[in-house]
Amino acid sequence: MSDKDVTEVLQADAEGIARAARILAAGGLVAVPTETVYGLAARADSAEAVAKIYAAKGRPDFNPLIVHVRDLAQAEKIGEFDARARDLVERFWPGPLTLVLPLREDAKVAGAVTAGLPTIALRQPAHKVMRAVLEETGSPLAAPSANRSEEISPTRPEHVIASLGKACPVVLDGGASQKGLESTIVALRPDAAWSLLRPGPVSHETLERILGAETGADNASIEAPGQLARHYSPGKPLRLSAAEVAPDEFFIGFGGQQGDCNLSAGGDLNEAAAQLYECLHQAAASDKPRIAVAPIPYGEVGRAINDRLRRAATRQN
Ligand code: TXA
Ligand code: MG
Repeated sequence: MSDKDVTEVLQADAEGIARAARILAAGGLVAVPTETVYGLAARADSAEAVAKIYAAKGRPDFNPLIVHVRDLAQAEKIGEFDARARDLVERFWPGPLTLVLPLREDAKVAGAVTAGLPTIALRQPAHKVMRAVLEETGSPLAAPSANRSEEISPTRPEHVIASLGKACPVVLDGGASQKGLESTIVALRPDAAWSLLRPGPVSHETLERILGAETGADNASIEAPGQLARHYSPGKPLRLSAAEVAPDEFFIGFGGQQGDCNLSAGGDLNEAAAQLYECLHQAAASDKPRIAVAPIPYGEVGRAINDRLRRAATRQN
């Protein structure tokens, strides 16, 4: 879209939003703010536009994308919604919950979006800037996190630029992402079974209260294909549940344990989730060759924080 050497940063005022929507409608790429993380968006109904996402991220083509919709009516043209899906939408949309549902046969979505799967991942984001972009663009937008494949997800425009550089031509600046962790992904099966494909801001406990016990968890074939072990990599060794810190380690603290960067001094897990990628970006950029992280409890959003940290700690041999 742009032959400039640097990424263009658009302010999220009426003019910036209108320009982002025009670029998207014309088949271009724009990094957009959401309440979870920044997404690298393109119109989901254009094979050419979607191909640009995979190229910019260096993303393997077996890893499908989430489609962001303006409302339930738009989503129902793409996925098959049953009563459970509508109930979850009623409770959590707009918000950080992605539903994996059967793909409608007549859905106008480029094949690369689903990587050939018979299912589709759908989400209505809550961020008001992203909602305005969806409204003005008119088409559903495919958008994975706006980072190079395997790198740390971005919660600020600076993170997008540090990871993608000019592979991302335009960023719409909507400030820091409020949740700071990618959406929870739930797969609903036609036979009443369901499984948590990715833990996130909507907790497993909450979902079990609504849907009953998780049923599909041990079926490896329904894992989100993108949940590769090595993901969210800060590019240096990372040690979990550290009780003390070595001098060459960048320490990410929590609660009583003060660090070079703190997830939450007061021990609040939602604040820790919102700070996680910010601290990992700082740790990656620091002079220290290694990273240590304080123990994080597992309840509620703690499960998602520990999931991301475990993946960040996984090194390829
Ligand atoms: O919060 C979020 O979800 C952010 C913002 C931008 O919305 N997006 C995001 O996208 O995290 P991405 O591409 O980084 O992660 C999408 C995940 C991948 O793990 C992918 O495998 C999974 O969703 N996924 C997409 N379609 C799927 C499907 N049909 N079945 C199973 N998993 C799917
Ligand atoms: Mg991602």
